[in-house]
Amino acid sequence: MATRTIYFGRFISAPTPDDLLIQTGAVLVSSNDGRGIIEKTDWTVNGPSDALSKFGVEVPVVTAPDNGYFFPGFIDTHIHAPQYPNAGIFGKSTLLDWLTTYTFPLESSFGNTNSPMYADATTPPDPLARARAVYKRVIAQTLAQGTTTASYFATIHVEATNLLADIAFDKGQRAYIGRVCMDRPEMCPDYYRDESTEASIANSKASIDYCRKLDPSGDLLAHIITPRFAPSCLEETLKQLGTLANDEDLRVQTHISENVNEVKLVKELFPDRKSYTDVYDHAGLLTGKTILAHAVHMSKEELETIRERKSKISHCPASNSALGSGFCQVREMLDLGIEVGLGTDVSGGYSPSILDAVRNACIVSRHVGYLKGGDSRYNLGVAEGLWLATVGGAKVVSMEGRLGKFEEGMLWDVQEIVLGDVDAHGEGQDNGVDVFGWENWEDRVAKWVWNGDDRSVSRVWVGGRLVHQRV
Ligand code: GUN
Ligand code: ZN
Repeated sequence: MATRTIYFGRFISAPTPDDLLIQTGAVLVSSNDGRGIIEKTDWTVNGPSDALSKFGVEVPVVTAPDNGYFFPGFIDTHIHAPQYPNAGIFGKSTLLDWLTTYTFPLESSFGNTNSPMYADATTPPDPLARARAVYKRVIAQTLAQGTTTASYFATIHVEATNLLADIAFDKGQRAYIGRVCMDRPEMCPDYYRDESTEASIANSKASIDYCRKLDPSGDLLAHIITPRFAPSCLEETLKQLGTLANDEDLRVQTHISENVNEVKLVKELFPDRKSYTDVYDHAGLLTGKTILAHAVHMSKEELETIRERKSKISHCPASNSALGSGFCQVREMLDLGIEVGLGTDVSGGYSPSILDAVRNACIVSRHVGYLKGGDSRYNLGVAEGLWLATVGGAKVVSMEGRLGKFEEGMLWDVQEIVLGDVDAHGEGQDNGVDVFGWENWEDRVAKWVWNGDDRSVSRVWVGGRLVHQRV
């Protein structure tokens, strides 16, 4: 059934890296089969009744308050749903010991009763109950942070991965769901790995079928082929996953060149390949729908290959800092024409917020500039950070032209931001962003980026469906 709604108020977006676009007016959203699309925009509208008469319709009007605005929903191009309970737990570790100390034990507990996490259990473990609790929470929390689309790594377990798909679909977040493939015996713990190449492929196919049954259109929910990273997979498995992704026209996600010891390991494990990038290229895994997380330690030649293949980069600045992985050369990538979006990389990253990723991307870029002789060309500004979080993310998840802007034909995946007002007596709401009233809207958005959190996100829609409302 078709329904229509008008949204009236201030609309702020970052359609280009250089400037925010700040508009007031109204948009008419038509929803058909749960797909809410902007049918018309009118930036001359000056009130709800003006909107009704200019669009010539009699439909409900949703109004953003004076101290708020509609903003495109954030796109998290790289997040590990099962790692959410570990957000903030990483001690002094770096990637490879972090994986064995914190990550594999937790992930394994979503399907293996012999997980080290259950060693001291006093009652029989219930892996699916654990998965349900964690997955419900991570989807609720990311929606509350304004993330309308997320590309998720799950675990190796088909049942728990399908449960993540169920919960994302039910709560209405746009989600790409990856069953993690890892089967290289010497690199994966006995308690947490796919049995063989055949098992890895068969289990991924089971999850592909499950996602297709939930959403045959693949618009709201789709499987994404997910080799964990080169060291954890047999070469034959990488190859068969590449074939599967190409045959089924599916997205691919993995990690690349995050940490110097990992890069060394890949050289040892794949002596016939020219580089880390070449391992994936040789397996047919570098497509126009491939998301490569981190890409911190890349040669010029590797970046050139990625550009040629039109593969995308997920920049995960909070994780790169937390695990001491290094600096991603975002400016160089953008200058080369490589498409870049932002990822939280929970729980390498400590926060499920893409607004926090915007902040971290801005901060880290200053360190990069400093290391290059204090050149401000490397600095990412507020508009550019927000552009990476929306338009950049849309490109990275192969949704360019459908997400990230307020234009006719785009999906209504939107967050309503409401800032705090401080009155003449210095009283205000407890909302994180104090607006005194004299700031222009560009400055208010900057204050949101640097000080905002989920308290500023009052409502969130995905495909026109209201999926979160702050109480
Ligand atoms: N490399 C392989 N697995 C992972 C993971 O779970 N997180 C991060 N950040 N890097 C990885
Ligand atoms: Zn990751």
